Amino acid sequence: MTTTLTVTTSTTSYPVIVGAGVLSTLAGHLAALELRGTLWLIADEHLIAVAEHIAGMLSTAGFRVRITTIPSGEQSKSFNELHRLYDWMIENGIERRDAVLALGGGVVGDLAGFAAATILRGVALVQLPSTLLAMVDAAVGGKTGINHPLGKNLIGAFHQPRLVLADTHLLATLPPRELRAGWAEVIKHGIIRDAELFFALEELASSQGWHATNAAYWDAQNIELTTKLTAIIARAVAVKVEVVSRDEFERGERITLNYGHTIGHAIEQLLGYRLLHGECVAIGMDAAARIAVALGLCPPALVERQRKLLAAYGLSTALPTDLDRDAVLALIGRDKKVQAGKVRWILPTAIGQVVVRSDVPFDVVEAVLASDQV
Ligand code: GLY
Repeated sequence: MTTTLTVTTSTTSYPVIVGAGVLSTLAGHLAALELRGTLWLIADEHLIAVAEHIAGMLSTAGFRVRITTIPSGEQSKSFNELHRLYDWMIENGIERRDAVLALGGGVVGDLAGFAAATILRGVALVQLPSTLLAMVDAAVGGKTGINHPLGKNLIGAFHQPRLVLADTHLLATLPPRELRAGWAEVIKHGIIRDAELFFALEELASSQGWHATNAAYWDAQNIELTTKLTAIIARAVAVKVEVVSRDEFERGERITLNYGHTIGHAIEQLLGYRLLHGECVAIGMDAAARIAVALGLCPPALVERQRKLLAAYGLSTALPTDLDRDAVLALIGRDKKVQAGKVRWILPTAIGQVVVRSDVPFDVVEAVLASDQV
């Protein structure tokens, strides 16, 4: 089953194709997009075999391809790694009509995307996400960038891809922990604007058990389950496609995609990226929902239901015991969602509905960080 969605913004339009095996259609799509220059394939180091397979396929179809890999992990979203990519492309004669292909998770997509956005003032970008997190979120919508020692994603650019191919077969290559972390963003999309997606995730968890979402199940043997999971993933991607189509540059509703990210980003950074992005987002979603309860925006039952679903997909919502709460409070003020000195919180009012609030009292956030209780 393949689902084709279209991002249509005021500046561009491009397909987002989700399905098992869709990578085999890459050459045809590139030809249709008239991307006939050299293809600079930037891959996560763990995907070198997949990258070589793709390069072979593209070469057979008459394309020129160069490959490089980047080390896995958030540390690669750095000036050093970006510089290395610039050196590689410039020394090997990159031209304006060329394209960068980003094969990997959010780190590769953000880093390779930013290189594509900035080299020669911008070349074409194609996103080939390999993780659940990148498929449903990072690869769609054109956010690219690197981290600064003082904060995550503080340097970057909007650079929309020409094509996103999300091949769910690649999820079989993921360590189970990575896959689990990706479910946090899928659940997030259910909470922020698609209650039916949230209910479908609940139904899947109760009928199959959370282990059904584990990588071991992503095999050709279990076609029924794989089809179900792929449909759920496509639905989560559709949320992202709709939101960025309406608000490409995060002037309004796109900020809702950052549900759970205000505290999540701070935890990620303070723990030196020991926890994965999705794991931190799960903790941040729980904290945001508890803030909403404290403000009377939603009932405590929402926190419990969200917790239960996150747990069903293997995600903890407990604040790490060694987390410096004061440092979290200090970091939140540096978040990109701060406007006129105020933190903009994305808070749930119901499953499938959130509001943006800039008037959350400091002591409410402090109290939520001091305890895991609703
Ligand atoms: N990951 C949030 C966004 O793309 O806006």
